[in-house]
Formats: sequence, C-alpha cells, structure tokens
Amino acid sequence: MASYCFAVLALCVAQTLCITIESVPGVDGEGAILTELESTVSLVCRSNRSEGERAELVWLRNGATVALRQENRKGQSRVCVTPVIHQDNGATFTCRLASNASVEASVTLNVTYPPDLSGSEDVWVEYESPLVLHCDAFANPPVTVWWTLNGSALDLFGGGFTVTDDGFSSRLSANKAEKSKHEGLYRCTVDSPVYGVKSKDFLVIVTEKTVKFPLMPIIAGVVVVCLTALFAILSRWEKIVKCCK
Ligand SMILES: *[C@@H]1O[C@H](CO)[C@@H](O)[C@H](O)[C@H]1NC(C)=O
Ligand SMILES: *[C@@H]1O[C@H](CO)[C@@H](O)[C@H](O)[C@H]1NC(C)=O
Ligand SMILES: *[C@@H]1O[C@H](CO)[C@@H](O)[C@H](O)[C@H]1NC(C)=O
Repeated sequence: MASYCFAVLALCVAQTLCITIESVPGVDGEGAILTELESTVSLVCRSNRSEGERAELVWLRNGATVALRQENRKGQSRVCVTPVIHQDNGATFTCRLASNASVEASVTLNVTYPPDLSGSEDVWVEYESPLVLHCDAFANPPVTVWWTLNGSALDLFGGGFTVTDDGFSSRLSANKAEKSKHEGLYRCTVDSPVYGVKSKDFLVIVTEKTVKFPLMPIIAGVVVVCLTALFAILSRWEKIVKCCK
C-alpha cells in the first residue's frame, strides 16, 4: 500500500490541512497506479484533520463528481474501481476537500492490456480478388505489428502489399491475389514490453477463379423466348378461330 500526497505535499508541511490517497495496488513515482483489465483498484482518501472536525471529502473521476454515500464522505472516503475496463486507462481520480477545492490529491490509472493475438486461421482467396488480413493491435503499452510471409519479412513492393496500422488493428492487403506471389503462411507478431511476444498465423490459399454464372442475361433470354412463343401461339390461335367461323 502506498500513500500519496500529490501536489499538496509542500502544503502539508506548511499547513495542517492535507489530503492523502492510499491505493491498492500502490502508486508509482509519477502518481500512476499500474493495473490490468478485469482487476480491482481500491482508493482511500483521508484528510489529516482530527476526529472532531472531520472534513467532508469529494471524489472526482476525470473532473466529474463521483456519487458517494453520506457515510463515505467524512474524514475518510473510499472508492473502488471494479472491474477495471479499457476506458479506465488514463482516468484521473481526484479527492478534494468539499470546503476548499485547492486542497486535493490525484492518482491516474495505467491499465495495461495485450493485443488479442493467437492461433491460426485458414484464408481462401480467389485468384485476382483482393487479399485482406487483419490483426488486433489494441494494446497498452502500444505495440508495433510486423508481418512475415513464409518466415521472411514481407516484400511490400514485390508482393504489391499495403500495410496500415490505426492503433486498433493492423491491416495487410494486396489488390489481386496470385498463387505465386501471395500463397503461403502469413504471421503478424507484436512484442509487448509487458506481455511479451504474441502472434497470429494465416494460411492463405489462392483458389481458381470461379466463373460467375451470368444469371441476368439468361433470365432476359428466357423471357424473350417465352414471349415470342406466346405471340406465335396467339397469332396462330386467331387464324384457327377465324377459319372455324
Ligand atoms: C484553501 O486552502 C488553501 C491551501 O490550504 C488556502 O491557501 C486557502 O486560503 C483556502 N481557501 C479557503 C477559501 O479556505
Ligand atoms: C503504463 O505502464 C506501462 C508498463 O509499465 C508503461 O510501459 C507505460 O509507459 C505506462 N504508461 C503511462 C502512460 O504511464
Ligand atoms: C510459401 O511456402 C509455400 C510452401 O512451401 C509455397 O507453396 C509458397 O509458394 C510460398 N509462398 C511464397 C510467396 O513464396
């Protein structure tokens, strides 16, 4: 458990009024609490005033007031973040005196999470169709994704590949799949300082181009043939009817 008297440390010495935040897990030197998705962070704020004059405390999350029960406000106040979610990354929790907003202490959450990369996928792509592969790259600390084909670095120019990374996922694409250039084992890999090396495989198979059945021309053709036959019968019918009169 670490005690933190953020920004008001000098104030504490000079004056008797002070606020401290204790947290589990503890705070690092920069006022950050290192935690992971799904875990729990417990924060306790205390004012150092004597029991008799227990100061009222207020909690804020990113500047917005956290609703607290009445009995959780005087002299000591506890908030719990559980389970920790993606959106808690970088969130700042501030505890301050209700009576004087300049007496406050803050901590920031640093939520680490790995990219969702594992396993292997088979991908069939038709000859001359676009080849597109995606790998998750959403992680804290941020990661760089690199791609290999058959164990070697991608020949971006030779293979006509484009790789884009928007911080959420890495996308590898090639406009027209060719067996000789594009078939093989693709792997995207990241090396996270916290979670180590993670990767995902794609076994890409380029298939024959399927002949698209030209449905519309056939329907049109059939309709024309039927109508012609119908008219032929109708004109014939008129003649037959006429001759019978
Ligand atoms: C609030 O606290 C600061 C620091 O302790 C002090 O300088 C200031 O006078 C206080 N303001 C009020 C309105 O009490
Ligand atoms: C969060 O913690 C990770 C792991 O220690 C570190 O690499 C990263 O720089 C920290 N991020 C921030 C914003 O402090
Ligand atoms: C990758 O390896 C496979 C199997 O050895 C081979 O069939 C394929 O042509 C190779 N792909 C490239 C682009 O060299």
